[in-house]
Amino acid sequence: MQITIIGTGYVGLVTGTCFAETGNNVVCVDINEEKVKQLRAGKSPIYEPGLDTLLERNIKEQRIRFTTSITEGVEHGQIIFLALPTPPGKDGSADLQFVLDVASQLSTIITDYKVIVNKSTVPVGTAEKVANVLALNLDRSLFDVVSNPEFLREGVAVEDFLKPDRVVIGTNSERARKLMDELYQPFVRQGNPIFYMDERSSEMTKYAGNAYLAMRISFMNEMANLCEKVGANVDMVRVGIGSDSRIGKRFLFPGVGYGGSCFPKDVKALAQTATEYDYDFQIVRTVMKVNDRQKTILGKKICEYYGSDLSGKTFALWGLAFKPETDDIREAPALELIDELLKAGATVSAFDPEAMDNVRRIYGEKVHFAESMYAALEGASGLVIVTEWSEFRNPDFDRISDALVHPAIFDGRNVYSLEKMEELGFYYESMGRKTVHSQIHNELEQPKETLIRDRGTND
Ligand code: UDX
Repeated sequence: MQITIIGTGYVGLVTGTCFAETGNNVVCVDINEEKVKQLRAGKSPIYEPGLDTLLERNIKEQRIRFTTSITEGVEHGQIIFLALPTPPGKDGSADLQFVLDVASQLSTIITDYKVIVNKSTVPVGTAEKVANVLALNLDRSLFDVVSNPEFLREGVAVEDFLKPDRVVIGTNSERARKLMDELYQPFVRQGNPIFYMDERSSEMTKYAGNAYLAMRISFMNEMANLCEKVGANVDMVRVGIGSDSRIGKRFLFPGVGYGGSCFPKDVKALAQTATEYDYDFQIVRTVMKVNDRQKTILGKKICEYYGSDLSGKTFALWGLAFKPETDDIREAPALELIDELLKAGATVSAFDPEAMDNVRRIYGEKVHFAESMYAALEGASGLVIVTEWSEFRNPDFDRISDALVHPAIFDGRNVYSLEKMEELGFYYESMGRKTVHSQIHNELEQPKETLIRDRGTND
């Protein structure tokens, strides 16, 4: 099929590339000339596993091409996807300026029947708004507007796109439905369902999914905080409840709060929609509050242990991206932690396999960026794990304890087992589990030689 994608951000690029991969003929439009140039050369501007390979292959096979001309895009595609930014406006609601601007441009270019698809996450009622803008210049028989939300997780977006749990399509038009069905058939053949519904339900499905998952995480984060107080282990509680098939095992991991481009933005936008419709959506408002607090918890733990004045101390931060396998730092809990540590006078020495350049752009010289995970530890008073990259899971603990001035680990993602930490003699705080006190944890200010000698004496 002839497909056009307008906007080559994260969603647009993955969508376009994956449609090309399934044999369609795709044109991607973006106003950013530099980006288009880079994409034509087969270089993805974002880090997403597998995307580069697919991009290169489909450019070579001439199934995908890039242009800055919206006219070229409109002439090409029978189905036109809008994958444009919908940043949060001042009141938290999604700003539709880009989507409606492009709709207005489309209305002056379209001459034969097109399906316009809202792929970006947009508030309930946006399909109607887009249709109304198009109808200012176009006869309604020349277009249908469809809602088709994406459910892509960063880091596994290509796989999520090619093998979706489900595809949601919101339209009341039989003609549009037929075309969308043809496009998504290759995915259904893998046994995955397409759900057809009206536009508003489809738009709401996206917000409901993200808000529900955010709520689940916030629930587990609060559960972890309570477990610490009552002396329970949240990991045990997690497996205990997760094996109930009504609950399920996934998305129950406590941590330092959810981040990224979707959850925080979508939860806020849903709360705003509720307010607009004069409904007090209490759970959703609480989820936001709980997450804001959770992002400060590692900082609090550190200050409780070392005192609120951290001047003269260095902390090694492992992980800056909001989650592993991405360089995305939008709403990343690490940023808030860096702010807190710097405010308390500490020096921050950070390492992340992919996200350091992005963080450097914000903090510049204020943060030290280390060459490797071990280099970040040199002279640090403690190691803080913020993102659970695989390479942090089974490190050389001898190197860690040799490099640290004080062998303390603050683990925001429960990467290590309590038994291992006890065995190795680290001071270890994690989320929702008991604190492991090594023999030396009270001797904070002593030079390392003394600590090591004392440790030897105690043995
Ligand atoms: C999310 C949705 O999963 C996806 O469907 C939607 O389209 C976009 O938003 P993404 O933002 O890529 O995807 O990240 P996801 O893997 O869902 O994680 C979101 C946040 O929740 C991360 O900060 C992660 O660390 C946190 N999280 C996730 C937890 O704290 N605990 C968990 O058990 C799972």
